[in-house]
Amino acid sequence: MSEKRVVFSGIQPTGNLHLGNYLGAVKNWVARQDEKINYFCVVDLHSLTLPQDPETLRTQTRSLAAVLMACGIDPDKSTLFIQSHVTAHAEACWLLNCITPLGWLQRMTQFKDKSARQESIGTGLLDYPVLQAADIILYDAHEVPVGEDQKQHVELTRDIAQRFNHIYEQEFFVIPEPVIPEVGARVMGLDDPMAKMSKSLAHTRGHAIRLLDEPKEILRSFKKAVTDSGNEIVFSDDPEKAGVNNLLGIYKAVTEKSEAEVLADFADARGYGDLKVGVAEAVIETLKPIQMRYNELMADPAELDRIMKQGADQARAVSTPKLDEMKHIMGLTLP
Ligand code: TRP
Repeated sequence: MSEKRVVFSGIQPTGNLHLGNYLGAVKNWVARQDEKINYFCVVDLHSLTLPQDPETLRTQTRSLAAVLMACGIDPDKSTLFIQSHVTAHAEACWLLNCITPLGWLQRMTQFKDKSARQESIGTGLLDYPVLQAADIILYDAHEVPVGEDQKQHVELTRDIAQRFNHIYEQEFFVIPEPVIPEVGARVMGLDDPMAKMSKSLAHTRGHAIRLLDEPKEILRSFKKAVTDSGNEIVFSDDPEKAGVNNLLGIYKAVTEKSEAEVLADFADARGYGDLKVGVAEAVIETLKPIQMRYNELMADPAELDRIMKQGADQARAVSTPKLDEMKHIMGLTLP
């Protein structure tokens, strides 16, 4: 067996990827591609748990796969695929449904939050974490990089995997660990620097920098960023200075400079106006090659299809035998 750890990352094709997603997550994923065996899955089945416009969902799914590649996810190093292309996920979800107590799902905080905001709640919304468990355990993943909000779902995945192993009296599933990314860059909203930059608010003007934003728009968003009434350009955890601290943090993350170097770059700034323009320029520079690569990928749909098919084939080669074994263990006959 390989020594390398298996990592499974899932990302929903709803909303636009923004700078916070890139600096806080995707950039780390790109960097660790050689150390681990990585699965990157665009979880379109999960998006169906809330109402979606079909054409938009389809476009965003392809677009997200292209953005991930443009950011540096290399389909020859990692397995990048679209969840619905690999039917094992939905099948394994059914099998796991049959051993998952309803109460475990009703307790999930995300279900409670999301269902409170919906008029009519689909069964899929309740079942969402079981599908997520299927995603993870089909690949014997050891690690699942997630934000705080998804930790409970990975813990549920552990419970489901353990329950399966217990009922069928064998160590069949690997018990995965949630991995909350190390410090990384925590990017806050430009309009509200006390709250994390959010994917669901990414369409709100002035809140986020989306990875595909035009330079003009990036500059405009930074110029409107909330700061304070002072003029001191310093790293600080004083809530009063959260805006400036966020701008400096973004600059530090995109330039990969030290705090001292960052401050030196702004030593001659005449106030926050200069700071904002400097940060905007650094971000524009970082996003330029990503946007160019994205446009190339989207201009060649046949090539994008080919890459997605290659990813799905790779994912199937691992998950189909696992699913077949799972069916056999549970007493199903194989065709
Ligand atoms: N629920 C995750 C989110 O919204 C997405 C997801 C689906 C996922 N399947 C996964 C994350 C498997 C990690 C592993 O962020």
